[in-house]
Amino acid sequence: MTRSRMLEGTWYDHPEYYDIAFQAYTQPEADFIEAACRKYCGFRVRRLLEPACGTGRLITALAARGYELSGFDVSQPALRYLRRRLARCRLNAETFEAEMSNFWIGQAADAAYCVVNTFRHLLTEQAAHGHLECVARSLRVGGIYVLGLHLSPLGGDKENSECWTERRCETEVTVSLRLVHTDRRRRIEDVQVCLMARRRSKELRLQDAFQLRTYSQRQFRRLLDSVPSLELCDVYDFRYDIQQPSALNDSAAYTVFVLKRRLPL
Ligand SMILES: C[S@@+](CC[C@H](N)C(=O)[O-])C[C@H]1O[C@@H](n2cnc3c(N)ncnc32)[C@H](O)[C@@H]1O
Repeated sequence: MTRSRMLEGTWYDHPEYYDIAFQAYTQPEADFIEAACRKYCGFRVRRLLEPACGTGRLITALAARGYELSGFDVSQPALRYLRRRLARCRLNAETFEAEMSNFWIGQAADAAYCVVNTFRHLLTEQAAHGHLECVARSLRVGGIYVLGLHLSPLGGDKENSECWTERRCETEVTVSLRLVHTDRRRRIEDVQVCLMARRRSKELRLQDAFQLRTYSQRQFRRLLDSVPSLELCDVYDFRYDIQQPSALNDSAAYTVFVLKRRLPL
């Protein structure tokens, strides 16, 4: 007989399941970050920064490839999970609690990255602008920021649900994400998430809801223009093919921006 139980809190309070749900992205993203550093930085990249690093799936993967990593998040459960994992894998990384729109790091990074729509958790233009300014201040001149987010289509015909399953050892995690409402004027999407984790005869369920800021390509461009210390090098799509930059357009698509820290004007 299967025993079912509802989990409390947000899905970021349960990093052990969140981490499984997103594991398939880790290798292609880590490969792309390395390839982008090779292509766009005129120096050997050693120090990497991940704002809102969550469970640190990418921090762990990149630390294992020999980089020096710093990462921060507002979620204490995610940071605890990451620190335990680093200790278990005998890897080092600097981890701390901080807010994405207002942070500071002591030693400049050669490159930074932030993927899977994390940036869209910043719900106002002021917070998004603050984030890009902080990233620019945290990068050495010539360093890059790899930023991945879904852009909204002009017409608004966006697919409104997604469901996938991932497994690790005996645990199977299924996530259903549903876009329930878009407030076009405020540029806010309401998203519902249902996470189900199964292990042997145990089943855990979690329902959560969160908001994301929307961006058309023009809105993202305008935001970027307000941060002169960052310039756009290229954009890529979900295929993460470093040989094939794509063009910015108004279709609903996951877009990976490669931004570069300019010389102070
Ligand atoms: C979609 S998860 C991505 C985690 C990680 N970057 C990854 O790629 O797996 C979003 C993360 O952003 C964090 N977060 C949300 N708002 C934040 C903020 N304002 N400042 C810092 N972290 C934030 C959450 O706690 C969560 O860990």
